[in-house]
Amino acid sequence: LVASLERVDQTYIMVKPDGVQRGLVGEIISRFEKKGFKLTGLKLFQCTKDLAEEHYKDLKGKSFFPGLIEYITSGPVVCMAWEGVGVVASARKLIGVTNPLEAEPGTIRGDLSIQKGRNVIHGSDSPESGKREVALWFKEGEVVEWEPALAPWLI
Ligand code: PPS
Repeated sequence: LVASLERVDQTYIMVKPDGVQRGLVGEIISRFEKKGFKLTGLKLFQCTKDLAEEHYKDLKGKSFFPGLIEYITSGPVVCMAWEGVGVVASARKLIGVTNPLEAEPGTIRGDLSIQKGRNVIHGSDSPESGKREVALWFKEGEVVEWEPALAPWLI
């Protein structure tokens, strides 16, 4: 009841091509499901160069930018939208810091990856980015608003 009075945010979570190739999709989705957030969008998707460049446009000047775009477009990704109170910051905690060698054990990157440039997952960095990225990656109708029938103690 208390939580329902707070603002519900959305975040864009993406299993990157290395995560898909390594068969980590189920494991990653499972962590967000078990935490209790609400899945509102999900698809396997081959990303174009244009979309990848738009998504990462703030990083355009970085030396790793071309490699990052090549990596993200190298194979299918799994796009997800998750909703909940505090979902953006909580998802970042579940994911762990950018460099997997510095990410805590128990986090997705900390448990499942080694390289910064192959860190298996993306998560929005603010509620504003969450909104922008969900709108960028999903077409109208692909994000589904639904009410959980059971477990009202989670919302
Ligand atoms: S920075 O430099 O502080 O702005 O970058 P950072 O916030 O650490 O990361 C921004 C996104 O770039 C990805 N990244 C990289 N990709 C490929 N190679 C290298 N070396 C690299 N360094 C950072 C990083 O994973 C972030 O992407 P997302 O998808 O948000 O995790």
